[in-house]
Amino acid sequence: MTTRFLLNGEPQTVEAAPTRTLLDWLREDARLTGTKEGCNEGDCGACTVMVTDADGTARSLNACILFLPQLEGRAVRTVEGIAAPDGTLHPVQQAMVEHHGSQCGFCTPGFIASMATAHLNGATDHEDQIAGNLCRCTGYAPILRAARAASTAPIPPHMKTDAAAIASHFFPVPEISQGESEGRGTASPLSSNKDSSPFIPTDSDALAAWYAAHPDATLIAGATDVGLWVTKQHRDLGEVAFLNQCSDLKGIDADQETIRIGAMTNMTDVLTAMAPRHPSYAEMIRRYGSVQVRNAATIGGNIANGSPIGDNPPALIALGATLHLRHGDARRDLPLEEFFLSYGKQDLAPGEFVEAVSLPAQSDTLRVYKLSKRFDQDISAVCGAFNLSVEGGMIKTARIAFGGMAGTPKRATAVEKALLGADFSEASARAALPAFAQDFAPLSDMRASSVYRLEAARNMLLRYVAEMSGQATNVLEVQP
Ligand SMILES: Cc1cc2nc3c(=O)[nH]c(=O)nc-3n(C[C@H](O)[C@H](O)[C@H](O)COP(=O)(O)OP(=O)(O)OC[C@H]3O[C@@H](n4cnc5c(N)ncnc54)[C@H](O)[C@@H]3O)c2cc1C
Ligand code: FES
Ligand code: FES
Repeated sequence: MTTRFLLNGEPQTVEAAPTRTLLDWLREDARLTGTKEGCNEGDCGACTVMVTDADGTARSLNACILFLPQLEGRAVRTVEGIAAPDGTLHPVQQAMVEHHGSQCGFCTPGFIASMATAHLNGATDHEDQIAGNLCRCTGYAPILRAARAASTAPIPPHMKTDAAAIASHFFPVPEISQGESEGRGTASPLSSNKDSSPFIPTDSDALAAWYAAHPDATLIAGATDVGLWVTKQHRDLGEVAFLNQCSDLKGIDADQETIRIGAMTNMTDVLTAMAPRHPSYAEMIRRYGSVQVRNAATIGGNIANGSPIGDNPPALIALGATLHLRHGDARRDLPLEEFFLSYGKQDLAPGEFVEAVSLPAQSDTLRVYKLSKRFDQDISAVCGAFNLSVEGGMIKTARIAFGGMAGTPKRATAVEKALLGADFSEASARAALPAFAQDFAPLSDMRASSVYRLEAARNMLLRYVAEMSGQATNVLEVQP
């Protein structure tokens, strides 16, 4: 299929298979080998590139799990396009030289792409910005010094041109007559559908009609899971639909009663939306993958994949979330916890997809605790979410859910029952601890043993009570 995008300011028209990754294309076809391949699964950041949308939003993404059709109408900057056209180094490049931020240099192009994107966006949370870039030899202190030093330098003019260039090269889009071929009138005008796949709808109506008729197809949202099926498992995905141009599936609508999050909303945007409402949820998302992963991964994908260790479902279940599903013109809603039937099995019919998830607006009593072997960018061993309301010192409502404790994300109904009506105290929490064994019989695996998981989950309840009683419980908050 044909994909059109800008590469370091130059328009490209690329013919490639729909599941060809940007990284493979850059290195093998475009012969731009500055962007490196390390893990090829989104973990190391060696392949980081900057991707700008038509609205001017610039984000860092891992090219190894980014399929070419996801780039339609967007602009890519690789490390080769970050210095000025006359060769003047970008401020982050100059600072890396001055602060000795590179030794073997293998990781450096990825760091430069992350740092230049952060610099463009004015982001100064440098540790978070580079948490998805691994360096084996230099050590992070010089790199962080370089990022700090560059942060006050002006943005080079060539770094601000991509959005305007997208507009002049790709918009207004050519007129396409309706009904020329299946999907043509509803597919992206930037995509060529002259071959049988992929399908690239621009709204959820088109997706719903097509998917109902092609229920065996694979939906691709952010590709942070699906990308690995291709790069690691070498799977042939067959017929695919890319959802990234369905603009009505993206974004967050909030009123006095409800917060509705579209399935295609990425985790960076969910973090921003949750920060003022449920800061503990936002803080957990800060440790979800890395900036590059959060910029790609969608909340719909994180729910639909049914992973028992997906980090959103426990928080969403504790908040009382409702899932909105669609099949053709039919829509249905269900409490999120009912979506997860058993390991690998969700209440999702063939041809049905996740349209959105919504939460009741509420005062914030939510705390989410993510326990993983590594603090940054690691999958949870256990993720616990607690949301208790207290009236007159007594526990009036309780919603508690866990990831990593069963074959699905699961609500702790026995623990909740043991807490309801009790006074909000450590003693009540301790009295409820035996109920954990009624709710959960967790597995032992490489992340944690069954015994450890149960103990950690119990301790999280004690932590919740301590934290809500005003004690410092986060090691990052405890000062010597
Ligand atoms: C390096 C790395 C770190 C990660 N860290 C974390 C982490 O800390 N916490 C965590 O929870 N996860 C983590 N993940 C897993 C991953 O990011 C999530 O599961 C992600 O949210 C999946 O969303 P996606 O948009 O990328 O989905 P995709 O990969 O595009 O799709 C995933 C699955 O969902 C289906 N799907 C997608 N959207 C829909 C829809 N709207 N309706 C129906 N089906 C749909 C797809 O067909 C596919 O089966 C990590 C992944 C990587 C690569
Ligand atoms: S090669 Fe490691 S994140 Fe892409
Ligand atoms: S400089 Fe060698 S891996 Fe970072």
